[in-house]
Amino acid sequence: MSVHLTWFGHATWQIQAPPHWIVVDPFFDENPVCEQAADKVECDYILLTHGHFDHVADAASIAKRTGAQVLANYEITNWLRKQGVASVMGMNLGGSFRTKFGVAKMTPALHSSMLPDGTDGGVAGGFLLEIGQSRIYFAGDTALFSDMSLIARKPLDVAVLPIGDLFTMGVEDSIEAIKLLKPEYVLPSHYGTWPQIAQDAEEWARRVRAETSAVPVVLKSGESFRLER
Ligand code: NI
Ligand code: MN
Repeated sequence: MSVHLTWFGHATWQIQAPPHWIVVDPFFDENPVCEQAADKVECDYILLTHGHFDHVADAASIAKRTGAQVLANYEITNWLRKQGVASVMGMNLGGSFRTKFGVAKMTPALHSSMLPDGTDGGVAGGFLLEIGQSRIYFAGDTALFSDMSLIARKPLDVAVLPIGDLFTMGVEDSIEAIKLLKPEYVLPSHYGTWPQIAQDAEEWARRVRAETSAVPVVLKSGESFRLER
């Protein structure tokens, strides 16, 4: 089975695991590095790591148009329900949800989560996904934390990590995170969207190759990585 991961810039990803299409942190229309229009996105699941605008911006509109089920923390799913999103699964840290594409476990993240209108967005998280034989970790927006080593108790095929600094861990701490997570492949996220989080991804990749055992995969916005398992 192959799984495709497409990056739409910032922290917006689409996972194609036929017959399922999963969108993580939909931020399309106001994302300055994304060419994809939100009203053309197709998916049957939407995963939200936390409540910030750059992660939930297009969640309600896509969910209402496609009927996709939204997996997020309980506070965020309540907020979406009030906007007319019918299919939600409220979760919290440490909890797993077994669904049609596999298992989604909500992992901790060191970050905040207030929703765009000031509503309490619960706590920030990430997702550890088991899809077929693949284990894929989306760290979400987070600082480096030592319990990442617990997420790697079973080997990870892919880790998607923020490297932009300022709002999340930067390059230096991402190298430490990769040493704890020991993924086969690591994909950078949450950088290059605005000048404040600009990073040299090729230089990051050079460091990953030199200092860790992971293979770095640097995508341009709109490009995909295919994982064969
Ligand atoms: Ni955030
Ligand atoms: Mn963010």
